Amino acid sequence: MANVVVVGAQWGDEGKGKIVDWLSERADVVVRYQGGHNAGHTLVIDGTSYKLSLFPSGVVRGKLSIIGNGVVVDPHHFVEELKKLRDQGIKITPDNLRIAENAPLILSLHRDLDAAREDATSSLKIGTTKRGIGPAYEDKVGRRSIRVMDLAEPDTLMAKIERLLAHHNPLRRGMGKPEIDPKTLYDELMEVAADILPFMDRTWKLLDEQRRAGSRILFEGAQGALLDNDFGTYPYVTSSNTIAGQAATGSGMGPGAINYVLGIAKAYTTRVGEGPFPTEQKNEAGEYLGTHGHEYGVVTGRKRRCGWFDAVLLRQMIAVCGINGIALTKLDVLDGLDEIKLCVGYELDGKKIDYMPSSMGAQTRLKPIYETMEGWKETTAGARSWAELPAKAVKYVRHIEELIGAPVALLSTSPERLDTILVTDPFEDR
Ligand code: GDP
Ligand code: IMO
Ligand code: MG
Repeated sequence: MANVVVVGAQWGDEGKGKIVDWLSERADVVVRYQGGHNAGHTLVIDGTSYKLSLFPSGVVRGKLSIIGNGVVVDPHHFVEELKKLRDQGIKITPDNLRIAENAPLILSLHRDLDAAREDATSSLKIGTTKRGIGPAYEDKVGRRSIRVMDLAEPDTLMAKIERLLAHHNPLRRGMGKPEIDPKTLYDELMEVAADILPFMDRTWKLLDEQRRAGSRILFEGAQGALLDNDFGTYPYVTSSNTIAGQAATGSGMGPGAINYVLGIAKAYTTRVGEGPFPTEQKNEAGEYLGTHGHEYGVVTGRKRRCGWFDAVLLRQMIAVCGINGIALTKLDVLDGLDEIKLCVGYELDGKKIDYMPSSMGAQTRLKPIYETMEGWKETTAGARSWAELPAKAVKYVRHIEELIGAPVALLSTSPERLDTILVTDPFEDR
């Protein structure tokens, strides 16, 4: 048995899509287990770019791909993404894509509410993707979600809609928004039911069968551990658990099925949206990283905030995710810099600390302690072996390994699928 969880170890956009695509050659099944279409995962194959938000990256290779119960599914977006990928020549049928019957749906009222909070007076602003993710998860834990399976039961759907609206309409009234007529919501759902239902499955059972048959299962995380609802920079986080443990809950497999956790981290740090970011560089260095790294959001097109690599945060996320090895990405973006800084600790109110505190106030007062390393003038872009890397780049990678206390298992040197250096195969590591 060899099942691998891929998890973002920073604030998202670490290059999970590329690494999952690369690893999925070695896998039989690829599973999304949290988040929704707030994710934007980019795959570049022979110069062609594919952007996936809801579908597991494994669909591009034709692997059995599962949208697990932990994901919140916007059915209209599902239909759009299906069409977009099919138009790009990807074959997607119920033979290679399944969606959990018990996954909660994102409805237009969730998108409305998300946008209204974001547009309102800035005290509530998180800088979300406005895709309705937070409100949909609120309804899930509030036990009033409409779920995928409800689309197959039109006779009882109206009662579920009324239950949901008993919560939302008073809320909307309070926000000065028009109330929603149950019939409108019913029609919204029936419009897409026939497109979704052929993909619906008892995915916990399918996964159990696959596991027993010895299939290799790859779990594709979305967002990053620092956006985790418990362990991230709360309240500036997403509304799901993004850490590796969620792979079990969000798919219906026991934690014992997971053999290896691969954390994905950039050779520097980025963040989109509001919230603390100790190593952020609002200066030339930050501009350099943003320009060379093409740091614009896949989903919203927003400019990503950029800063130096933060070893303190990575160590902490390695602990909370149980990360066995790291895939270090975008090393090439540092090519050409005279010097590169790494955060190795913080100063908080005059004291040195080696962790990120959970209080938001303390997080914003952190002063990073940096080590400076000499940059390399040669290029690492497109390197496919260690031998092609300049000595100073190797030194940087080795130093990161020392600082974070975890090995680099994979190294990525460009957006292209094949520009990847394998050190340890996560599926083979015991
Ligand atoms: P994800 O959300 O973690 O899948 O990452 P995104 O796709 O949102 O952002 C990562 C971006 O970096 C994408 O545009 C990738 O094509 C690109 N990328 C991934 N790995 C590398 C790399 O090693 N070097 C460079 N230059 N770009 C990379
Ligand atoms: P991938 O999978 C980066 C951020 C948003 C915002 C916060 C909450 O591509 O790495 P939400 O819409 O989830 O309620 O927004 O989380 N965020 C991401 N940042 N990459 C992502 O996904 C993200 N998904 C959400 O910018 O700060
Ligand atoms: Mg992304």
